[in-house]
Amino acid sequence: MSLKTLILAAGKGTRMKSDLPKVLHKVCGVPMVKKITDICSRIGSEENILILGHKKEEILKVLTDMEYVVQEEQLGTGHAVIQAKEKLNGFDGTVMILCGDTPLLKKETLENLYKFHKSSNATTTILTSIYENPFGYGRIVKQNNKVVGIVEEKEATKEIKAIKEVNAGVYCFEAKNLLKALDKIDNDNEKGEYYLTDVIGIDVAAGKVVETFLLEDNDEILGINSKIELEKANCIMRDRINSSHMEKGVILIDKNNTYIEEEVEIGEDTVIYPGALLQGKTSIGKNCEILGNTRIIDCKIGSSVRIESSILEESIVESKVTIGPFAHLRPKSHLKEEVHIGNFVEVKKSTLEKGVKAGHLTYLGDAIIGEKTNIGAGTITCNYDGKNKFKTSIGKNAFIGSDTMLVAPVNIGDNSLVGAGSVITKDVPENALAVSRSKQVIKFDWRK
Ligand code: UD1
Ligand code: CA
Repeated sequence: MSLKTLILAAGKGTRMKSDLPKVLHKVCGVPMVKKITDICSRIGSEENILILGHKKEEILKVLTDMEYVVQEEQLGTGHAVIQAKEKLNGFDGTVMILCGDTPLLKKETLENLYKFHKSSNATTTILTSIYENPFGYGRIVKQNNKVVGIVEEKEATKEIKAIKEVNAGVYCFEAKNLLKALDKIDNDNEKGEYYLTDVIGIDVAAGKVVETFLLEDNDEILGINSKIELEKANCIMRDRINSSHMEKGVILIDKNNTYIEEEVEIGEDTVIYPGALLQGKTSIGKNCEILGNTRIIDCKIGSSVRIESSILEESIVESKVTIGPFAHLRPKSHLKEEVHIGNFVEVKKSTLEKGVKAGHLTYLGDAIIGEKTNIGAGTITCNYDGKNKFKTSIGKNAFIGSDTMLVAPVNIGDNSLVGAGSVITKDVPENALAVSRSKQVIKFDWRK
């Protein structure tokens, strides 16, 4: 295979009305241009080159390993491609050109386009689709079923505007011929830009073979120029992702109101309720229940876990754990089997061994808590003195009474008991009782 790809991403994206470069806007959690570069890197091309310009530094922070050329001034899609001339000089293969703002394209489509281009011996092949409302897209003008050119919305006459076959912005060009044709384009049009699409008319005039490759699923070529189109792309992508989970056995109560990013994995018979947001590299086992208003990012969750209205970040949750409502797992927490954390419990960088329970109003930070220990309501690990963080270690089968302050660093032994309301500053040995609170005073008839 002798294929290179060029991904156009230098434009300002004026219609997006945003400070963020258009191609960095996300569709189901992934920046649009990253979707395109990811599929380009999987179709077997020998080189994938980005064309960057407007706010290129921001794009390079997201796409760190990409080759790129710079288009200093954004003078149109044709001008953008001309910037890659040096990269294409002497290359005798096919150049596939794509736009960074068509995030719904599938890898198979690009592979099929390339195969068709090769088998039809075309000099140029345009990916097209049919839109009932083709507004904004370049129209494919044909005579006797042969392409004669592409006309942009701005230059289109009434007759041309009525054409429903549109340019997807994806093409296969033979490199040598493309370079020759690019020499001939000008900016004599409504926008004063060098249009890549003018290459088509130039090819036709030179007697080259120009083909179209029609895509049935016109969702795939949706170009994102505005926030309205961005929302539409998110809906379509969400539907794709959610349908594929249901096909694999996941139960979604309302697929239109469940937000799952692309890399998330979910086991069979897990039920996801409306309003759940599953992000990053999260994996969830079988038979779990994820209730509404839950956000899970980059977590590994076992099976038969129940999570209600809670936030979980970068943590590990083993099987049969119950979380929430209103709990918060902050990064590097590890809840082992059968742990329960309940209302208003925050856990940070802590390990809760099998069967630990912390039902209410608790902060556990930088702590290790042994098997089956019970943490009473209002317990706080005082892990921070304003400068440094300190560790708390609690043994197994311990009972921490309600409203206990554990001033770290501190160790609480196995099977020990801490009385409610204590402020613990010294280690508690195993099997001991520790109480630290002022004695209760009764003054009879004091109110009289
Ligand atoms: C373009 C096509 C149109 C097609 C549509 C498909 C042209 C002239 N028109 O129109 O036929 O139907 O895509 O979505 O090509 N860009 C640069 N440098 C520039 C200008 C643009 O890199 O100077 C990049 C943009 O960042 C974007 C892509 O090229 O990723 C397309 O540009 P955009 O302005 O969105 O073109 P459309 O008007 O949508
Ligand atoms: Ca566009």
